[in-house]
Amino acid sequence: MKRVPVPVAAIRGADAPEGPVAIARPDRVAAATCWFLDNFRADGSVARVLYAVKANPSPWVLEAMYAAGLRWFDCASEVEVETIATRFPDATIAFMHPVKSRRAIRRAYFDHGVRIFVLDSADELAKILEETGQARDLKLVVRIAVSNEGASLPLAAKFGAGRAEAAALLRAARPVSAELGVSFHVGSQCMDPGAYRRAMAEANAAIVAAGVVVDIVDVGGGFPSVYPGMTPPPLQAYVDAITDAFDAMLVAQNAELWCEPGRALVAEAGAILTRVELRKGNTLYLNDGAYGNLFDATHVSWPFPVKLARPDGESVARHAAFSFYGPTCDSIDTQKGPFMLPMDVREGDWIEIGMLGAYGVAMATRFNGFGETETVVSEDAPWASLYPQDAGQQSPTGRRTAAK
Ligand SMILES: Cc1ncc(COP(=O)(O)O)c(C=O)c1O
Repeated sequence: MKRVPVPVAAIRGADAPEGPVAIARPDRVAAATCWFLDNFRADGSVARVLYAVKANPSPWVLEAMYAAGLRWFDCASEVEVETIATRFPDATIAFMHPVKSRRAIRRAYFDHGVRIFVLDSADELAKILEETGQARDLKLVVRIAVSNEGASLPLAAKFGAGRAEAAALLRAARPVSAELGVSFHVGSQCMDPGAYRRAMAEANAAIVAAGVVVDIVDVGGGFPSVYPGMTPPPLQAYVDAITDAFDAMLVAQNAELWCEPGRALVAEAGAILTRVELRKGNTLYLNDGAYGNLFDATHVSWPFPVKLARPDGESVARHAAFSFYGPTCDSIDTQKGPFMLPMDVREGDWIEIGMLGAYGVAMATRFNGFGETETVVSEDAPWASLYPQDAGQQSPTGRRTAAK
């Protein structure tokens, strides 16, 4: 991958890319990973951090995490399972999609050694048992439904068993599990640490109703990143709320505490550079959009940060509000913003859209023949961070260190 000191260096000269450019900042992935590995802890219990691969499965992300010491991965599909198993044979993979195809279960178990499977229904439990040949070495995790209040992107509707159903599933899964777990998802970009406390109380109520011993409490994803106007409490407040609630749960003495962060590990480590193809008033027609790397920037009306990257100089013009159109023919391919950019922005300028390391390149399609995206590593760190700047830096001995 090409390495540049700052993103604008990637788009200068005759060999400037034709399509959008994904800016990779692997040091920010390392910083976030080290922070979680060092700080997601529970007194006297094993705590594990599983990366939710769906947030960004780019090889540079996976390699940066692995180099920082992360070995556990939350996969949602057969392809994700294969990707991780092939790249990191010593990794532990958890198949955390509550609805899996039979082939995906078989291949995960028999070809890739996956033993951790999530479920939220009796039918899925039966499917897992059938397709693994009634295996006796499974770690089955029952996903329960919890309130998504406090989350900027609720995920409550689709998955998760209600309390009574969860209790029945826990009872059914206990005798066929080598280890039994509970999990939930508080919703993405959760701005309230108390949401984890409440969800864990829900999980505890299901465990008590079931009257079974539980070995794993998996608090899922939802840990936030920092977007303009959306500054969450420090991540330590989330860990504190989780460890307090974990202490109060009626689980096995040696129960493990797991989390599955996606966004929080990668959001600030990625950005998109997109070129202005045409300007009409304060609307800019770009070479990237809703069907490319800007799905979230289109459908989640958050204030993604932007800045001008002019190949042949800078602008001193005052800023004004702009909206964007993506390159496809679909009129919903529009990003309303408002995005504050210099008033003289013009065709041929590029715009860096920051905080798109999570759910950016991961969501791109090839609709209308667009979507080809080159990746360039940039050495700067221009956007806001939830982590200490020196976290994850390489020490003289070559080991990664995590700053507190
Ligand atoms: C099961 C599961 N775990 C973890 C995540 C990651 O969530 P986030 O990116 O909000 O941390 C997701 C996201 O959809 C998920 O479905």
